[in-house]
Amino acid sequence: MIIKKIQLTNFRNHSNYSLECEDDTTLIIGKNGYGKTSVLEAIYILTRGKSFRATDKDIIKRGTSFYRIKLDFTDGKTNIATYDNRSKTFVINDQKSKRLPSKNKYPVVLFLPSDLNLISSSPSRRREYFDRIFSEFSEKYHQVLLKYNKALKQRNELLKKETITNEMIFSWNLILSKYGVELYNYRSEFIDEINLSYKDLYYSITNHHDNIMIKYKTDLNHTSVEDYLKNLEQNFQKDSYLGHTSYGVHRDDYIFMFNQEIADGSASRGESRSMILALKFIEAALIEQKINLKPIILLDDVFSELDEVHRKSLVKNFKDHQIIITSV
Ligand SMILES: Nc1ncnc2c1ncn2[C@@H]1O[C@H](COP(=O)(O)OP(=O)(O)OP(=O)(O)O)[C@@H](O)[C@H]1O
Ligand SMILES: [Mg+2]
Repeated sequence: MIIKKIQLTNFRNHSNYSLECEDDTTLIIGKNGYGKTSVLEAIYILTRGKSFRATDKDIIKRGTSFYRIKLDFTDGKTNIATYDNRSKTFVINDQKSKRLPSKNKYPVVLFLPSDLNLISSSPSRRREYFDRIFSEFSEKYHQVLLKYNKALKQRNELLKKETITNEMIFSWNLILSKYGVELYNYRSEFIDEINLSYKDLYYSITNHHDNIMIKYKTDLNHTSVEDYLKNLEQNFQKDSYLGHTSYGVHRDDYIFMFNQEIADGSASRGESRSMILALKFIEAALIEQKINLKPIILLDDVFSELDEVHRKSLVKNFKDHQIIITSV
C-alpha cells in the first residue's frame, strides 16, 4: 500500500493541510513547531488505529469541534478518520467503524529521535517500545496484551480496597496467569528471532564484528500457568499493602548487550545508535516476513541526529519502501 495524498483538517496546528506523497521518498521540511511530527502522527492513526504520543483530545486543534484525516492510496482506496470531541469514526473503503478494524491496519516502522535513547531509557519505555513492535508482528499479541492490561487494571483496583481477600481476586489471578504466560511465550520467541539476525545487520552498518544481542529479562516462573498463579497468590499480602500487582510480565525488561556486557554504560554513543538502527531494519524485515506487507517507514527528524554513515545505511536499507521523512 502506497500513500498518495494526506489531507488534514483541524489536526494539531494544521487547519487545512495537504501533501502529495512520492512512491519512494517524501521529505517534509519545516522549522520547529511547523507540524511535521503531527503529519506522521496522522498517518500513524489511520494505519495503526491510534496516536503514538497522545489522545484525541490533545490532537484536535484547540478551539475547534472536530478533526479529520484523509489518506488516499495509489490503488484508489481512501481511508478517513474523524473525531468530534467525543468519539472517533473510521471510514475504510466506505465502511464505518469506531475502531480501526484489525484487517485494515497497515504496518509502519516509526523512527522517533527518542528511540535513539532506548538502550539507556527506562524499563517502561522499553516495554512500550517492544509491545508496539510485537503488536505489528502479530495482531494476536496485541489482543492478548489488551486483555492482560485490562485484567491487571481490574486486579489493581481491587487491591486498593481494604476488605480484599485472596479468594476475591482469584478469577483475575487466573486471567493474568493465562495471558501472562502467552505474552511470555510471544516475547521470548520474538526476541529470539530478532537476535538471529541482529549481529549481521549491525555488521552491515558498522563493519565491526561486535557481539550484540537483546536479553529478555523476565521471571522464569512465567513459563507455566501454575507457577505464575502460585506467585500471584504468594504475593497477595505484599500486593494488597502496595495497592498494585508486583508480580508479572508487566515488569519485564529488555537489556541490550554489547560484547557480553550491558550496552548501557559500555557501548559508545555511535555504537548504541548502530544497535538501534539495526533493530529498525530487523523490525521492517520481520514485519514483512510475518504479515507479507511492506511497512511504510516514518522517520521523524532522525537524520539530524545521525552521521553520514548511519544516514546512508538508513536510506540504502529502506530503498524499496515508501519512506516519509521529516527534517528541520
Ligand atoms: N491541539 C493542538 N491545537 C493547536 N496546536 C497544537 C495542538 N497540539 C500541538 N499544537 C502545536 O502544533 C505545533 C506542531 O507540533 P509538531 O510536534 O507537529 O511540530 P514539529 O514540526 O514536529 O516541531 P519540531 O521540529 O519541534 O519537532 C506545535 O507548535 C504545537 O505546539
Ligand atoms: Mg517534531
